[in-house]
Amino acid sequence: MNVLGQALKYGVEKIEEAGIPQAEQDSYRLKFHLMPPAGWLNDPNGLCQSRGLYHVFFQYSPFDVNGGLKIWGHYTSRDLLRWNYEGTPLLPDSPYDCHGVYSGSALTEEDGALKIFYTGNVKHEGAYDYIKEGREANTIYCTSEDGYTFGSKRCVLTGEDYPEDYTCHIRDPKVWKQDGSYYMVLGGRKKGEKERGAILLYRSGDGLHWRIYREMSTEAPFGYMWECPDMFCTGGEWVLSISPQGLPREKFRFQNIYQAGYFLTGSRKMPDILLPEQFIEWDMGFDFYAPQTFEDEKGRRLLIGWIGMPDSSREYGNPTTDFGWQHALTVPRQVTAGKGRLLQAPAEELESLRNRESIPEDGKWTLDSGTAFDMIITDIGSRPFCLVLSEGLELRFSDGVFQMVFLENEAGRKMGAGRTMRQARIPELGKLRILADTSVLELYLNNGEYVFTTRYYPEGKITVEVKSPCASCRLWEMGAME
Ligand code: FRU
Repeated sequence: MNVLGQALKYGVEKIEEAGIPQAEQDSYRLKFHLMPPAGWLNDPNGLCQSRGLYHVFFQYSPFDVNGGLKIWGHYTSRDLLRWNYEGTPLLPDSPYDCHGVYSGSALTEEDGALKIFYTGNVKHEGAYDYIKEGREANTIYCTSEDGYTFGSKRCVLTGEDYPEDYTCHIRDPKVWKQDGSYYMVLGGRKKGEKERGAILLYRSGDGLHWRIYREMSTEAPFGYMWECPDMFCTGGEWVLSISPQGLPREKFRFQNIYQAGYFLTGSRKMPDILLPEQFIEWDMGFDFYAPQTFEDEKGRRLLIGWIGMPDSSREYGNPTTDFGWQHALTVPRQVTAGKGRLLQAPAEELESLRNRESIPEDGKWTLDSGTAFDMIITDIGSRPFCLVLSEGLELRFSDGVFQMVFLENEAGRKMGAGRTMRQARIPELGKLRILADTSVLELYLNNGEYVFTTRYYPEGKITVEVKSPCASCRLWEMGAME
């Protein structure tokens, strides 16, 4: 790290010293989700496991609870349960990333070293057309032998290396190795009468010298920008995950301002043309964006997403900003191939946080304020279902539609902080798992065929009432991660 980096690191540590005690006073701090120590968090970055150690980096802005200059924060864990905060290894200390160390990925080599690729953001003040030429998106590479400290940065792709028919919005490299070559996907915004989202796939023999290999997009525009791409093969078929912007809102799909989903290509070959009908949203809740996956040493494909949404504060907010922190990451979710969709399930390690099983009284659970819980409801059949949480949030299923609704009453308005309703068409609801942290809900329907993630801010005792007599339910109080 150079002198500028050291100065920035010192500044970050001072800001954290002041911000962490304030954040920790918030009763909405989470028990088993990763959050920023203080300030703002967005995308998960550089997810990997090396020599047994899991690494979760994240977009971090300790400077401003509402975003601002981005750096990488870093958590590590051996068991996905006890996490250490390792500080901020990547700071904007070079001419290639002076306005932000943006999102990227990590690759682990056989010897355990990490190769990191990320976007270095450089803004051109006073540019004539900010969208087309207002910035540089440099692809930066650096390595780490020990997983904690990083060597010098090298810019491996810059302006002229990207196709001319793209705007300056090209970012978020995800790199993997396959058959002796390195591959990198970058998300982009392509020029044209109507700008459109697309993916650039690069290939390299050494991880340093890259050549464009292929472009991937839909035939007709599918949103104007695709962020945070990810590409992997599961169950023998290629999956391309993106966070597209600019999809028109529909009644049962694309209900947030931006989306995150995957194209299930049905092909053993890397695709170039993607079909919009292959696109499936990872998560239909209010707060989910920019997910990334990686394969761990057990051979599991794990996904972590950002529990948040860019530009959403116009619609809804988070009272945690009063305590100087905002946003979180989902629990690690194991992704497996299902029938026509991918399934997501909380990593099984989380089950060891279950404490005693709680027994309902008069069909209703009453839990102390701030209790986190894990609840599994089975035998719902295709009958109508309704669950009421703390008198302000209803989960309903009937006639092939599932809804998560913050009610119009006082409890609902406070709990939702501006959130209203999200819904999806589901042929049948057989099983529902609710992973409830202090101020986050992750709902897994039918073994994770559909997932809904949201922030929620209950006050006082937490009540859970299932209004469907046939369903069988189990609820465990959850302990905290260390
Ligand atoms: C997605 C994103 C990325 C970018 C990062 C900056 O949320 O906009 O495209 O690299 O956030 O924080």
